[in-house]
Amino acid sequence: MTTPFARVTGTGSALPERAVSNAELVRELAARNVETSDEWIVARTGIRQRYLAAEGVGTVDLAERAARAALAAAGVAPDSVDLVIVATSTPDQVFPSTACSVQARLGAVGAAAFDVQAACSGFVYALSLADALIRVGSHRRALLIGAEVYSRILDWNDRSTCVLFGDGAGAVVLEAGSTPGILASRMHADGARGSILTVAGRLNQGAAAGDPFLRMDGKAVFKLAVDVLESSAREVLALADLGPEQIDWLIPHQANIRILAASAKRLGLPPERVVVTVDRHGNTSAASVPLALDVARADGRVRPGQRILLQGVGGGFTWGSVLLRM
Ligand code: UT7
Repeated sequence: MTTPFARVTGTGSALPERAVSNAELVRELAARNVETSDEWIVARTGIRQRYLAAEGVGTVDLAERAARAALAAAGVAPDSVDLVIVATSTPDQVFPSTACSVQARLGAVGAAAFDVQAACSGFVYALSLADALIRVGSHRRALLIGAEVYSRILDWNDRSTCVLFGDGAGAVVLEAGSTPGILASRMHADGARGSILTVAGRLNQGAAAGDPFLRMDGKAVFKLAVDVLESSAREVLALADLGPEQIDWLIPHQANIRILAASAKRLGLPPERVVVTVDRHGNTSAASVPLALDVARADGRVRPGQRILLQGVGGGFTWGSVLLRM
């Protein structure tokens, strides 16, 4: 038997109901004596709005909606899935994993299910892992989800972080097939630089211990992100023996429009070939890449046969890229 390839056969996404514009957020923060402005947020990040989950809506709810949409797009039944991976840093509980909860809700009985925690690189990690499992022949139909409710781990008194993030989920179905699919992928981390982006809190003796909020050295993250996005892109392109000009769409983690622009420039790609959703979604961490992929597929930009470069970067410090043919 020949080695199977892995191919994306469906995408889906889910956003909370409430879109919060910069203007609305600025008013809400002013009521807490936190001073910011639409001008600052747009100029420094490109973000114009983000979606925030209502009380009672969890990561699993967004993950399930995105998963069902991806399964419908692929035209496959939930009970035919044999692998469920959820990338998240904001699970609703310690365990069972979000993936097990989604698997139960979908009725994907017997499918392997686990979460991947690699912060904003989580979805790219999940896709790399699933590709490997399909290629060795142990799984044939995978459901991969990035889902987050970062609004729950933000310090709403810290203007340097609370304006940046949003909630949401994106999903893909990845299936074994005779044509590639995923052309190359690589995951990386540098734990020694972990302190520039953290949520240091933990559960201890039945209570939250330590700082439960996201803390970031924005400038350090910015600089490292631009560097590793370039090196990681060049690495997977070299593995596939392709040049940057042969990519149809660059879909990097959506953290900041200035990071996206700097990465594209370093690769010599025109801005028109970068999918940008950070303006509408804010930074949704592990959800941002599959959300952006689904938006671009739904609006007709991403089409079958095109080459797409997906890139994650974030806490850990982690990064990675997946080069695929749709
Ligand atoms: O998803 C994981 C990956 N995360 C990222 O990639 C984020 C990477 N970092 C960034 O995107 C940027 O560093 C930020 C958007 C976080 C910050 O932009 P910056 O251009 O690096 O600004 P800064 O942190 O140097 O702050 C500049 C000024 C400061 O005032 P002073 O010290 O110059 O007087 C801040 O206090 O802007 C001030 N500032 C704000 N002002 C208004 C910081 N946050 C705000 C705010 N509103 N929300």
